[in-house]
Amino acid sequence: MCGIVGYIGFRDAYPVLIKGLHRLEYRGYDSAGCALVSRTSELNVYKAKGKVSDLERATQGKDITGSLGIAHTRWATHGAPSEVNAHPHISKSGNITLVHNGIIENYATLRVQLEKRGFVFKSQTDTEVLVQLIEFQKELRHCDLAEAVRRSLHLVIGAYAIAVIDKENPTQLVAARKASPLAIGIGEDYKEFFLASDASPIAEYTNQIVYLNDDEVAVVERGKNLHVMNLYGEDKEAEVKEVDVDLSMLDKGGFPHFMLKEIFDQPNVLRDCMRGRIINNVYSSESGQAHEPTLDVVLSAVKDHRRELLRARRIVIVSCGTSWHAGLIGKQLIEHFCQIPTEVAYASEFRYADPVVEQDDVVIAISQSGETADTLAAIQLAKEKGAFVYGIVNAVGSSIARNTDTGTYIHVGPEIGVASTKAFTGQVTVLTLFALALGMYKGTVDQQEYQDVLEELTNIPNKIQEVLKQNDKIQELSKKYTNSSNFLYLGRGFNYPVALEGALKLKEISYIHAEGYPAAEMKHGPIALIDKDMPVVFLTNHHRRYQKVISNLQEVISRHGQILAIIHEGDDQVKQMVETYIEVPQTLSCLAPLISVIPLQLLSYHIAVARGLNVDQPRNLAKSVTVE
Ligand code: AGP
Ligand code: GLU
Repeated sequence: MCGIVGYIGFRDAYPVLIKGLHRLEYRGYDSAGCALVSRTSELNVYKAKGKVSDLERATQGKDITGSLGIAHTRWATHGAPSEVNAHPHISKSGNITLVHNGIIENYATLRVQLEKRGFVFKSQTDTEVLVQLIEFQKELRHCDLAEAVRRSLHLVIGAYAIAVIDKENPTQLVAARKASPLAIGIGEDYKEFFLASDASPIAEYTNQIVYLNDDEVAVVERGKNLHVMNLYGEDKEAEVKEVDVDLSMLDKGGFPHFMLKEIFDQPNVLRDCMRGRIINNVYSSESGQAHEPTLDVVLSAVKDHRRELLRARRIVIVSCGTSWHAGLIGKQLIEHFCQIPTEVAYASEFRYADPVVEQDDVVIAISQSGETADTLAAIQLAKEKGAFVYGIVNAVGSSIARNTDTGTYIHVGPEIGVASTKAFTGQVTVLTLFALALGMYKGTVDQQEYQDVLEELTNIPNKIQEVLKQNDKIQELSKKYTNSSNFLYLGRGFNYPVALEGALKLKEISYIHAEGYPAAEMKHGPIALIDKDMPVVFLTNHHRRYQKVISNLQEVISRHGQILAIIHEGDDQVKQMVETYIEVPQTLSCLAPLISVIPLQLLSYHIAVARGLNVDQPRNLAKSVTVE
């Protein structure tokens, strides 16, 4: 959940670490810390409760020299956010220091054992056990740091990405991973190395990156090589990947918050997401003759694995949060275009539900970060049961991308705001392409519909642009809701998951209680909540069940609910029924989510800003949920 950074090389480590922590702050932000081996070989550790900027203040006037260091931005699992619980943690002798992302599940037992041997603990974290254990192993076996780390990890149950330094050997940095991400950037001629939870802190220095695998330990020696081994000390090959991160995506680009920037990014990033995947066919493959241009989907993963995909008697989508909402839309798309029964499971439930997964099943894992622990565990389970696993992921090179049999990146660029926005529309876009491509191979898509949907998909970025032009209007409108304490979001069919997503966005960043419901299900319970003080966001911009939605709308009006309707342009019928509405361009019903979610993202954003809240880093949340 937290972010870790490390540096060893020839330049001052501190600026690299701080900049890296800022880039990773989306992963955790309740406290921060860093450790540096100074020019005079002192180990200096600085910590602060709060943000990375608080850490910067805490280091003012202090010795921040040294070209070896590690740093951490925390999202507490064990022990409240405080200076003493902030990482790095230091061993008894004061020589070894460590940063950790993950959870040591058996920390209590290990702690008791170490206390019996005279180790004194300062913090309430699980992490401190690990640094003391490493020191204990080092003393016991008279071994070097890497061996002590390996031996300690044999005794540990849980998840970790760690970076460790030993003041007694300041030419070395040791790292290891299991179920938490860790990337190592290799500088020019191996003169320097950068370590981080994802590639964003590394990208401006090098694009040569090694992603550690589970149960691997890396020893990085200044000016020498990168040595990767398994927990038994056997050499492993370090696979160097070229990873190019668009650095302009990592700053706010003039917007006050990442979330707003990412909402506004959507037209462009969806064009990127579709680029090369929707092509114009002018020549007939059979005759070689030119004909009326037709559109086609090219998704290499579907093409290359159509045998496994076409064998599917059932598809199970596993994901969490916003990605789960995208999955609910994916189910409708796949069932409609491919006629394959599809289920959508919360990854956290699936993994412990003893699910029936058969060898002919295809499991689709959807994740923005590619690091969500529950989704990773669900993938593992599905693979053990013999299913073919397809990933729909944003973060390139992430654990989910590497642990699935194949997949498609959504390519919407790094998403920093904790509330997911452009990843959602990217996921829905890829799911649409997936369903169309597979349906085409299966012969279950109507040719005309295939053409219509593809053509309309290419219009979606411009239509989103149109909605974004109403930002000021939505901001104005949102003022009405600053002090609301409850919200209801209603939609049907393809817009039902959008209602869920709108409610989640509001909850996460404005802390207003909100519920999403299928509009027709409302009469079975939530209708009791409706009175003049209950804002009800109604998604009516949906063709197939339009008249039904209108009846549901009428039911809310009769009970004096405060309606905000999302309607399609020119919908005079609803305009006459309600006072407050936002008009969005018309589109096909299966693509409606891509349009109707935009005003809901903007609405929650403006309500949260008006309430004076930290939109990009809402309380208690973190961007990558790498713990169960
Ligand atoms: C979305 O706004 C949330 N912050 C959260 O629900 C998120 O979608 C969920 O944790 C899944 O993350 P993933 O897509 O990175 O796997
Ligand atoms: N479990 C550790 C702690 O609570 C690390 C949590 C994290 O990954 O942020 O400090």
